[in-house]
Amino acid sequence: MRKHDFGGSWTEEKLERVRRNLVEYTKIFAKNPRAKWFTTYYVDAFAGTGYRSMAGRNGRQKSLFPEFVKSDAQGLLKGSARIALEIEPPFKHYLFIEQNPKYACELGKLKDEFPSKAERVELVHAEANDYLMQWCKRMDWRSSRAVVFLDPYGMQVDWSLMEAIAATRAIDLWLLFPLGVAVGRLLTKGKEPPPEWAGALTKFFGCNDWKTAFYRPAAQQVLFKKGKSDSNRAVDFGKIGQFFVQRLKTIFPAVAENPLPLMNSKGNPLYLLCFAAGNPKGAPTALRIADYILKA
Ligand SMILES: C[S@@+](CC[C@H](N)C(=O)[O-])C[C@H]1O[C@@H](n2cnc3c(N)ncnc32)[C@H](O)[C@@H]1O
Repeated sequence: MRKHDFGGSWTEEKLERVRRNLVEYTKIFAKNPRAKWFTTYYVDAFAGTGYRSMAGRNGRQKSLFPEFVKSDAQGLLKGSARIALEIEPPFKHYLFIEQNPKYACELGKLKDEFPSKAERVELVHAEANDYLMQWCKRMDWRSSRAVVFLDPYGMQVDWSLMEAIAATRAIDLWLLFPLGVAVGRLLTKGKEPPPEWAGALTKFFGCNDWKTAFYRPAAQQVLFKKGKSDSNRAVDFGKIGQFFVQRLKTIFPAVAENPLPLMNSKGNPLYLLCFAAGNPKGAPTALRIADYILKA
C-alpha cells in the first residue's frame, strides 16, 4: 500500500467535524420530504488515498479519536474519502478528485472495500480547480445538491473555484484555509510581499484588498515621506481569518463566523476549517448545524 503521510491530531479534529456534518446532511436528504427529491453528491476534490499513515514521531502518533484508526497492523488512519463512504444513509454519488496518479490508483481500491457503493463512486485523476469548475458548470443544480470538501495542503484552491461553487447556489462547502502554513507566511512583516507572493495572495483571495486590509504605510514613511513601497504588516492570524470569512460572505448566502483553528503541537495555528452554505433556502439550517459542529 502506498503511504500518504500528512497531518497530526488536528487532522482528526478536522475530519471528525466534516464527518459529523455529512451524517446530518444525508439524514436530512433521506428524511425531509422536500429534500428527498434531490440527488446528493459528496465531492472530495483533494481526496488523497483514502488513508493516511500516522505521521507522528516514530510513526506512532496517538489518535484523538480511536474510531479513526483502521483495525490493521499498519496503523493507518481513515482519510476523508473512506469516512464519506462509511456514512449511512449514503450519498447518491461520490466524486473523488486526486492529482497524484499513485494516490488516485490507491483511492480506486475503496471501490472494492465498499462494493455496494462502488457504482456510486466516480474517481477522477485531475487537477481539482480545473475539473471542479467544469463540473459545477455542467451539473443540473435544479435537481442536485452537494457537499464539497476542499482539503489542500496549502494555497492550491483558486478564488475562481470558490466563485464557481458559490454560483451553483446548491453546494455546501467545507474548506481548509491555510492560515499559518501558507497565507500567514506570504504576508511578510515589515514590508509588502514581493510581486510573486502578492500575485499568489491576490489569486487566492480573488482581489487585492488584502493589501489595504493587512498593510498600512510604515510610520517612518508617513513621518518622513520616504520610500514608496515600505509598508508595515498590521495584521494577526485572527484578522486574516476574519478577512477570509468576509470574502466568502461576498459570494455565499451564509458563512460560519467561527472557523475552527487547527493547531500544531506547539499551539500555532496551521489551518482554519471553514464552512459556507450555498443554497439560500437551506442556508439557515446548514449554518446552524455547521456552527454547532464547529463549536463542539
Ligand atoms: C491533505 S491531502 C488530502 C487528504 C484527504 N482529504 C484525506 O483526508 O485523506 C491533499 C491531497 O491533494 C492532492 N492534491 C494536491 N494538489 C492538487 C490539485 N491541484 N488537484 C487535485 N489534487 C491535488 C495531493 O496529492 C494530496 O493527496
